[in-house]
Amino acid sequence: MADYIYTMEIRLTPDQLKGVNLVQDVARAAGITLYLTGGAIRDIISGFTIRDLDFTVQGNPLKLQKDFERAGAQIAGHEEDVRTLFLVLPGNVRAEVGMARSEHYEKVGKPPVVAPASIQEDLRRRDFTVNAMALSLNEGSRGLLLDPFNGVADIEAKVLRVLHNYSFVEDPSRLIRATRFSARFHWPLEERTQQRYDSAKENKYIEHISRSAIGHEIAQLAHEDDPLSVVRALEKEEFLKVLQPHWTTAKVDTTGLSQLMKTRQQIVDLGYTVDPSAAVMHFLTAHLSDKDVSDLRRQIPRKDLVEAWRDIEDHAKDLAKRLMGKEAAIPSRTWNLLSSARPEMILFLAVTARQQAVAQKIKNFFTKWRDVQKRIPLPEMTELLITPQLPDYPKIARDVFMLLLDGKLRSRTETLKFLKPFAPPPPPPPPLPRRGRGPKAAATAPTPVAEATGKPVKGKGKKAAAAAAAPVIAVIAKAKPEPSGKPKAKPAKAAGKPAKPARKLASAKHPPKKATAKKAAKKKSPSKKAKKH
Ligand code: CTP
Repeated sequence: MADYIYTMEIRLTPDQLKGVNLVQDVARAAGITLYLTGGAIRDIISGFTIRDLDFTVQGNPLKLQKDFERAGAQIAGHEEDVRTLFLVLPGNVRAEVGMARSEHYEKVGKPPVVAPASIQEDLRRRDFTVNAMALSLNEGSRGLLLDPFNGVADIEAKVLRVLHNYSFVEDPSRLIRATRFSARFHWPLEERTQQRYDSAKENKYIEHISRSAIGHEIAQLAHEDDPLSVVRALEKEEFLKVLQPHWTTAKVDTTGLSQLMKTRQQIVDLGYTVDPSAAVMHFLTAHLSDKDVSDLRRQIPRKDLVEAWRDIEDHAKDLAKRLMGKEAAIPSRTWNLLSSARPEMILFLAVTARQQAVAQKIKNFFTKWRDVQKRIPLPEMTELLITPQLPDYPKIARDVFMLLLDGKLRSRTETLKFLKPFAPPPPPPPPLPRRGRGPKAAATAPTPVAEATGKPVKGKGKKAAAAAAAPVIAVIAKAKPEPSGKPKAKPAKAAGKPAKPARKLASAKHPPKKATAKKAAKKKSPSKKAKKH
C-alpha cells in the first residue's frame, strides 16, 4: 500500500510541510477532524507543483481564526456561506480551510443548499475524480487516503472525469475548471465527460455561473505556472469573457508576462521563494480599463491578492526611487536594501524598471555580487578558528562580504589581514600525564605519542609531552572547533589533580583585544594606502 504521508513529506516544500503541521496542531488542539484535500492531494500524487494547501475539517473553521493567528498564520479572508478560511501560512504558503459540506442543487442556475457533512459526503460534491480525494491527518488514521471515485487511477490514466452526469449543470464553473486543468496538465477530458462538457457548452449553462465562482476562477489564473496558455485556452472556449466581458488575450501584456515568468524562474533557481501572483494579474490585465480592473478585483475573494496587485506599481516605484538614492550609493548598501526588500517587488521591478541603473543593480544583486561571496576565504577562516560556532561569526562574515563588495578588500592577503584580529586564541593543550615520583613511576609513565601523527615522541619529560600535544591542537582546531567559539579550558578537576594551570591556559584568560570590524577595516583600508602612494 502506498505510503501517502511519506509521499506528502517528500513532495511538499519545507514551508508547506510546516504549514501542514501548523494546521494539524490547531485542529488537534480544537478536537476537530482534519483532512488534506483537493488539488493538493492531486498534485502530491501526480508530481505537479503543489501550489496551495486545501484542508477540510469536520466542523466550522471560522471559529478557529484566533487559534490560527496565534499559531503564526495570517487570515487573508473568508467565505461565510461555505465556511472557508483563507490563510497565509509562514513562508508565504497559501492555504484554505473549508468545512466538510454537502451541496444540494434544487434548481438549475441557483446556488446549492449547503449543510455541514462528513468528509465522505464532502468528496461527493466535488468537480473531478482527481480532485475528490482526502488524506487523513488525524491520530489513529493519519495517512489513510479516501479515494471513493478512483482518483488515483485517473491520475495514472491522465484524464479528467466528472463524478456524475449533472456535474456541469449543477456548477457551470466546472466548465472553466475543466478547460483550465486540461490546459495546465495537458490531460484530456474522459470521453463521457467531454460529451457532457460539449452539451453544457451548447446549452450555455455557463451563463448560470455564480459571481463568487467567477471571483475564485479569476484568482486561480494568478497562480498558474503558464498563465498565458490557460488564458488562451479560456478565450478559445469563450470563457475568458465570462470572467470579464472585455477580457481578451489582446489585453494581456504578453511580453511583460513572459519576461516575468522567465525572471521568476531565475530567481527561484537561486533559492528564493517568490509569489508572482500579483505581478501575473498586473500583466494579464495590463490593457484593460481601470474600471474593468476594479470590477475584476472586487470579485476576488482573497483580499491579500487584491491588495498586493493594487499596490504593486506604487511599491515598485518606491523601491526604484530608493535604489536611485543615497541608500543605494555603494554596492554594500544596495545589497542590504535589496536583501530586505520582498522578492516579489524585486521580481516586478526587474521586469518593469525604466531606469537603466535600477535594472543594473538588480542584475548585479542576482549575478555578479552573489559571486563575490565565493571570494570569502572560508578554508583560511576555518584555520583561523573563525567558524560558525563563534558568536560573532555572522557579523564577521557579513563585514568581510560588504568590504569585498565595495572593493575595499582587493586581494586575498588584504582579506586575511582584515580577518586575523578576529581569530580567537587557540584552545589549551591537553593536560600533561600525571607524574609520580622516583624511577619506578618514570619507568611506567607512558611514552608520549603525537596524536596527530600517531608517532611516539622522543623523551619522556614535560617538553616531550608538550611536543606531542602541539600538533593535536591544530588538528582539533581544524576538525572540531569548540561550540562556544571560546577555547574551553579543561577544568583542573576533570584533568586529575594538579591545580597548576599550564601557561597557555593563562593566555586564554587574556585574549587579545577584540578588534571591531570597523576599526579593522579602517586600519587596512586600501583607499588610504592608495592615497599615500
Ligand atoms: N472544487 C469543486 N468545484 C469547484 C471548485 C472547487 O469541486 N467549482 C473542489 C475541488 O475538489 C478542488 C478543491 O475544491 O480540488 C479546491 O479548489 P481550488 O483551490 O479551486 O482548486 P484546486 O483543485 O486546488 O486547483 P489549483 O491547483 O488550481 O489550486
